[in-house]
Amino acid sequence: MTIVTDLTSRKADTAAPLIDPLADRWSPRAFDPAAVVETETLRTILEAARWAPSANNSQPWRFIVARRGTAAFTKLHDAMAGFNQAWADSAAVLIANLAETVDAEGRERPWARYDLGQAVAHLTVQAQHEGLHTHQMGGFDAKAIHDAFDLADSLEVVSITTIGALGDVDRLPEVLREREVAPRQRKTLDEFVTVGE
Ligand SMILES: Cc1cc2nc3c(=O)[nH]c(=O)nc-3n(C[C@H](O)[C@H](O)[C@H](O)COP(=O)(O)O)c2cc1C
Repeated sequence: MTIVTDLTSRKADTAAPLIDPLADRWSPRAFDPAAVVETETLRTILEAARWAPSANNSQPWRFIVARRGTAAFTKLHDAMAGFNQAWADSAAVLIANLAETVDAEGRERPWARYDLGQAVAHLTVQAQHEGLHTHQMGGFDAKAIHDAFDLADSLEVVSITTIGALGDVDRLPEVLREREVAPRQRKTLDEFVTVGE
């Protein structure tokens, strides 16, 4: 018998109150393979990234956006590690997150990856607010993506974000299903915060 598990809420058990999109965000692997993200919604999500802070307002993030069913989606999916390929094909959108680590004058941008991370964080929170889910990944061949999209040397492929609507967890392979329903865990605040005196 298939046990259908309701994962519509994996809300964080927080030690202090958070705004809903932060408490509600989690990274599913079970995406609805039929769901489509409206163009206006996608635009809103990317607009959230646009307004992220960055060192010297350099805005060193670049995004390659690929909808399911496009050649660009296939290129990104092909470059993923097998353990990510196994679930990410159901996402409605894949976004390759790139950092421009060298500016137009050839100077290093030490905070480019940090700035990209903030932009992606903005994007994920906005996506959650739009009723969607995101799942970031580092398990892919960055060089394969660099080559497939013929990217400039100044660009580094740092991560991929999957975006979509929540799907049926019971359609996942058993090993992934187990991870999907496992309790969510975090360090306590005391473990990573030092209050200076
Ligand atoms: C930079 C980065 C790389 C990640 N790489 C992968 C990955 O390759 N595969 C995967 O399934 N999840 C990946 N994740 C998702 C994390 O495992 C997940 O965010 C973490 O376990 C916390 O779970 P939550 O997002 O549901 O709170 C990655 C997340 C980040 C931010």
